[in-house]
Amino acid sequence: MADSVDLGEIQETLLIPLYGRAKDAQSETSILNDRTAIDLVDAIDYDFGKFRGPSLSGSVLRAAIFDEYVRDFLRAHPDGTVVDLGCGLSTRFHRLDNGRLRWFDLDVSDTMTLRRKYFEDTDRYTMITASIFDEDWYSAVAATDGPIFLLSEAVLLYFDQARVHDVLQRLSHRFAGSLLAFDTGGALMMRSQDSNPVFRAVPARMLWTCGDPQSLESLGIRLVDSRTFGTPQTSVARSWPAKTRFLMTGLGRFAPPVRTYKMNLFEL
Ligand SMILES: C[S@@+](CC[C@H](N)C(=O)[O-])C[C@H]1O[C@@H](n2cnc3c(N)ncnc32)[C@H](O)[C@@H]1O
Repeated sequence: MADSVDLGEIQETLLIPLYGRAKDAQSETSILNDRTAIDLVDAIDYDFGKFRGPSLSGSVLRAAIFDEYVRDFLRAHPDGTVVDLGCGLSTRFHRLDNGRLRWFDLDVSDTMTLRRKYFEDTDRYTMITASIFDEDWYSAVAATDGPIFLLSEAVLLYFDQARVHDVLQRLSHRFAGSLLAFDTGGALMMRSQDSNPVFRAVPARMLWTCGDPQSLESLGIRLVDSRTFGTPQTSVARSWPAKTRFLMTGLGRFAPPVRTYKMNLFEL
């Protein structure tokens, strides 16, 4: 029998990228080839079919861009520490594990209860039940050797600007010198949520609008790199089907929601 889910409103949104990755894995031109996502969708009792539209493949493109940021970090620091803040049912650790890194996946308790049904801690992989906005997890992460890469994918968007700015400043103080990757969305993307088929299927809405990630430098963080679906890293673009690349180049230039949805890398 499939597992029922009992998730808060924002937490439920983790099922959107999960389904996106499962659908991608079933495609002949899969980008992430995340077979585990297929197993998880099968294992969970939920009406995934209600999720439709371009945001499903968008979550795959986004994951591919963030994967490459982490790969770059691991090429330079194979023994480094990666922390995925608001991991949901992401399989990024399993996609990128180089046999040496240290990895923490963090999420709030209802999500972690679900996650722990399918994943187990190991000597290099630890799940933490905590909020990105709390500080009780800082010491576990800071106790590791080597440089740290923090990542928060499709999480901060769901919170208001004051909370986001506050957490960015606190992370910047505590993890000075580390890298932090997260996504930002412009006003048009935020305004179009009610007409986006995936958001019509869930109650949660994104709250934080940030049209220009560079403006966040006033919080004491430095923008190192910023990508849209129209401007992925070269190696990532090569892994996308030609049709996707072509479409995203066009949309990235002319469609404001795509042009202003950014995957960013900051130095704290
Ligand atoms: C759209 S999902 C993204 C999940 C995952 N990052 C991915 O891309 O597949 C949003 C995630 O934010 C998590 N979340 C909600 N509130 C959080 C908090 N205060 N701290 C950390 N994560 C939180 C949810 O549990 C959920 O996993």
